[in-house]
Amino acid sequence: MPMNLKGRSLISLDDISATEIRHLLTLAAELKAAKHAGTEVPRLARKNIALIFEKDSTRTRTGFEVAAYDQGAHVTYLGPTGSQIGHKESMKDTARVLGRMYDAIEYRGFSQDLVKQLALHAGVPVYNGLTDEAHPTQIIADMLTMREYTHKHLSDMAVTFLGDIRNNVARSLSVGAMKVGLDLRLCGPAEFRPDDAFVDHLKALAGASGAKLTITDTIAKAVAGADFIYTDVWLSMGEAKALWAERIERLGPYRVTADVMRASGNPHAKFMHCLPAFHNADTEIGASLEKEFGIVGLEVTEEVFESRASIVFDQAENRMHAIKAILLATIGN
Ligand code: CP
Ligand code: NVA
Repeated sequence: MPMNLKGRSLISLDDISATEIRHLLTLAAELKAAKHAGTEVPRLARKNIALIFEKDSTRTRTGFEVAAYDQGAHVTYLGPTGSQIGHKESMKDTARVLGRMYDAIEYRGFSQDLVKQLALHAGVPVYNGLTDEAHPTQIIADMLTMREYTHKHLSDMAVTFLGDIRNNVARSLSVGAMKVGLDLRLCGPAEFRPDDAFVDHLKALAGASGAKLTITDTIAKAVAGADFIYTDVWLSMGEAKALWAERIERLGPYRVTADVMRASGNPHAKFMHCLPAFHNADTEIGASLEKEFGIVGLEVTEEVFESRASIVFDQAENRMHAIKAILLATIGN
């Protein structure tokens, strides 16, 4: 199948095929090796990229900035305040303005519809840097990381996602996993099950790729034989703080502990998290949750987070290499 991502947007992993995902992974691995060897060749000279962030970010923003700078491109950061976006100018108008000036646009915000509108009207590639529904660039980085830690093909790996199984990271992981043929287990309380339309969509993708999908509230079943155990925060950006009490109560049993890692029966099982993570009380929110609920660390224990099984900082580094691959494939010279 011919592979050409030139001029294309990435607003969801539904936008790209399994072959294209594999191509991005290969390109990202090559770019990572070249950067480490000091042999990287800049292929984004004279390109300008707009970075819109309506929510906070460490990895996604720096990943885009460093990837762009390494390759000779320039970026403009537009934060939650300081531009006309949203309060005074619609996304449709913003798209047509930025599309006249920039070669590509990254967008992190709330609604998936807004990033779709941006892609529809900008006339240049648009990348979803996280919305309430999707986080596609994260999953390209995560698959790169998974490949680095096993000798297995993606289609032979078993991955368990524990906790808030309907959030943006879980959804994008699910779409990506179904595309490349992974054995994916989503494990959380029954009421956190993703909506039926989405599950049907995943099943259709699995039918085409041979992927396996399990949705369960039973941890032992979900982690048995897993190569990777992945979790994310229990309350995502944009969700009401008033929900913390309910989330802690409902998702508490799904925290990744050393026992959960052992229950995989796989001594090589690795722990994954997109970050940022609540694994101790060393943050403002972590400290206030400890004070209010008497709980230290939430979705993962400090022991697992700091263990040899934890590959979370490889994931973080790989955000940049994966984003660089996406930039090169879509707007590279
Ligand atoms: N994983 C991730 O997207 O991190 P940031 O929120 O720091 O960008
Ligand atoms: N689910 C998290 C991911 C952060 C990278 C959030 O949306 O806040």
